[in-house]
Amino acid sequence: MPHRWCDSAELRRKQIESGTDLTFNKVFKPIFIEKVLGLNREPILEVGAGTGHLSKELAANGLRITAVEPSTGMFKVAKEVLDGSGVELINCLVDDLPEHIKYEVAISHLVAHVVNDSTRFFNSIANHLEVGGHFVFSIPHPCFFNGYKKIFGDHYCYMESAQKEISFTITKDPNNVISGVPYHHRPLTSYISSLVSAGFAIDGFEETWPSYVVQKMYGEIWENPRYCVFICKKL
Ligand SMILES: C[S@@+](CC[C@H](N)C(=O)[O-])C[C@H]1O[C@@H](n2cnc3c(N)ncnc32)[C@H](O)[C@@H]1O
Repeated sequence: MPHRWCDSAELRRKQIESGTDLTFNKVFKPIFIEKVLGLNREPILEVGAGTGHLSKELAANGLRITAVEPSTGMFKVAKEVLDGSGVELINCLVDDLPEHIKYEVAISHLVAHVVNDSTRFFNSIANHLEVGGHFVFSIPHPCFFNGYKKIFGDHYCYMESAQKEISFTITKDPNNVISGVPYHHRPLTSYISSLVSAGFAIDGFEETWPSYVVQKMYGEIWENPRYCVFICKKL
C-alpha cells in the first residue's frame, strides 16, 4: 500500500534535512555509505527510496544509482531532492521493475518490515541482482523493537508474525505524528527463511549500536539495539 506514505513525505524531508531525524543522519547514513563503498561495485539499486536522501548521499560519493519509490507523494519529494544528483528515479514497486535490468548491489532502508509479503519482496530483489551481487537492508530489530515502541500490547509473541497499522513520532520531533502506516513483526527465523528461499546467503548481520555520543543525542542511552542490518549475497 505505497499511498500510505504519501502524506508524510514533506515532513520526512524536513526531519532529514533539518537534522532532527537522528536515526537517518547519525546512524544509518554512515552505515550505508560505509557498507556500499566497501563493496566497491556498481550499479546500485535503492528499493523504497522514500525522500531520496540516501541515494543522493551515495551519488555524491560518485556511485551510479537507480532508486525506486512507489508512493507518488514520496516520489514527488524525491524528484526534487534528487534533481541534479544523477540518480535515476523510478516511480514503481521493485516487483514492477523490468526483469532484464540487473544491479551489482541492492539496498533498502526500513522497507522490508512494511511489505505484506517478504518472500515476494526478497525474490523481486534477487531477480534484479547479478549472481554474487549484494543486498544490504535495515529493519527495526525484531527482537527488541516491540519492547521499545510497545506496538502489539499483551497479544505479542515474538515467534508469531503479526501486522498492525501504526502511528509514530521520531524522538526529536514528538509533535508530528506519522499515522496509518504498516508495521510487520516477523521473527528473525522468518526473515532468514525468506532470504534463503529467494537465493541469498547471509554474509553479515549487524545489530545497530551507535556510539554513546550519538545515543546521548536521543536523550537516553539505548537499552537494546533498535535496528539491525542484513548483508546478503545472491548465490
Ligand atoms: C518506512 S518508508 C522508508 C523510506 C526510506 N527508505 C527512508 O528510510 O526514509 C518505506 C518505503 O518503502 C516503500 N515501499 C513499500 N513497498 C515497496 C516495494 N514493494 N518496493 C519498493 N518500495 C516499497 C514505501 O513507499 C515507503 O516509501
